[in-house]
Amino acid sequence: MTEQEALTLVDTLLHTANQRQGLNDVQSVVFLETWTGTSYREIAEQSGYEYDYIKQVGSHLWRSLTQSLGEPVSKRNLQAVLRRYQQLQQAATTLPIIQDRQDWGEAPDVSRFYGRQGELQTLETWILEDCCRAIEIFGLGGMGKTALSVKLAQQLQSQFDCVIWRSLQQAPLLELIVSEILPILVGSEVTIDNSIDTLMKQLRSKRCLLVLDNVESILQDGNRSGQYQPGYEAYHQLFDRICDEPHQSCLIITGRDKPGGFALRQGKKLPVRSLQLQGLAGAEGQQILIAKGLEATKSQSQTLVNYFGGNPLAIKIAATTIQTLFGGNIQGFLAQGSHVFSDLWDLLDRQFERLSALQQQIMYWLVINREAVMPAKLQEEILPKVPLRELLEALESLQARSLIETADTGLTLQPVIMEYVTERFIQALKREVTTNELTIQNRCLIESQTQDYLRDPQIQLISS
Ligand SMILES: Nc1ncnc2c1ncn2[C@@H]1O[C@H](COP(=O)(O)OP(=O)(O)OP(=O)(O)O)[C@@H](O)[C@H]1O
Ligand SMILES: [Mg+2]
Repeated sequence: MTEQEALTLVDTLLHTANQRQGLNDVQSVVFLETWTGTSYREIAEQSGYEYDYIKQVGSHLWRSLTQSLGEPVSKRNLQAVLRRYQQLQQAATTLPIIQDRQDWGEAPDVSRFYGRQGELQTLETWILEDCCRAIEIFGLGGMGKTALSVKLAQQLQSQFDCVIWRSLQQAPLLELIVSEILPILVGSEVTIDNSIDTLMKQLRSKRCLLVLDNVESILQDGNRSGQYQPGYEAYHQLFDRICDEPHQSCLIITGRDKPGGFALRQGKKLPVRSLQLQGLAGAEGQQILIAKGLEATKSQSQTLVNYFGGNPLAIKIAATTIQTLFGGNIQGFLAQGSHVFSDLWDLLDRQFERLSALQQQIMYWLVINREAVMPAKLQEEILPKVPLRELLEALESLQARSLIETADTGLTLQPVIMEYVTERFIQALKREVTTNELTIQNRCLIESQTQDYLRDPQIQLISS
């Protein structure tokens, strides 16, 4: 290291430490002369300054360097300390740059992804500006949670030391997930201690974006959404710790149901947030139709997109069905309704089967009412009577699953769900007729005086 290199280094160090104030002229002289072994007295004689003044400038300089280098600096060890510092700096910059640690697991391709600018912007703000520790994206099956989570992680990858995306669809035990994640975080093929503690330590020391998709796979079916399946409680512990403990990482979970613990912790100003994914807007849904090669007028696309509540999966399935079975005739398709949407139906079947008896009954009553209804009216209708608290709990859970919607006028169903539940309801009626258990039907007959869509099949059934 030459004296000029040393001078530049010290000037830079002080410049950074003193906020833009580097070495002044006298300090430069004192530094250079000391570097070459000149004493304070000799510097004073050569420069014409007082000895005491030069001594003071020197001690001030070494003090400043001590502060910025974090180890004692004096005129005796000056060269050794600065050489060591320079070597460390060089070693750091010549180390092989660890490539961005990323592991996308089975993340799907999202190169054809439309819209969602508002959602992406909100999530980005929550993550980058509000430094959220955990975010859940939840919504109905097919609504685009998985696609959105991948798009978001792709957009934010440069902001993180590490990005890991994993699906929980096959319900892996937490031990397995952690044993896959930790080596990526640590940067070594094998890790010995795969505990939650070690994972938390990594999330503290690195900025990691961890996405866990399909979280409903590790939750119990049934009336109280959010309870973990037996054997999966360790996830609960991990999620709680990620929500509660300080760290610099962010966990994103997606799912049809909300896991327990999240609702308690989330809030607009808290580091845990929740985004309920709604349908795509008309123009975005139309782009899916165009990509599928379906020729539709703007108003036809709008009707179709609205019909499916903007659900991208439903729109895709519908587009294919219209092409293959209806020769591209959208009107014909809409007229046929639910009979042809087998794939989407399957999807809804799976959702419905997860519901408790009370939740299923609520869904039926929303179909019977057809129009928006207030919880108090629902309570009057449902037999046997249920306490309001239990009803509200069931409604909350249905809402969390995006199966019901709330408006000022009350609770209602998305159009495609309304059709699905109607169909299911008719099947339930058929079973009741054959087993002579007419509870729902009797109530329904009283209620649906003017509702032909339900009364006609019942009358046919009863009279057959
Ligand atoms: N914004 C979008 N633009 C284009 N296609 C989309 C968009 N969002 C979702 N899709 C497509 O819709 C389909 C369903 O999306 P996705 O799998 O993300 O839904 P999901 O909410 O994760 O469903 P599930 O609850 O079943 O996991 C996929 O084929 C996906 O590619
Ligand atoms: Mg998904």
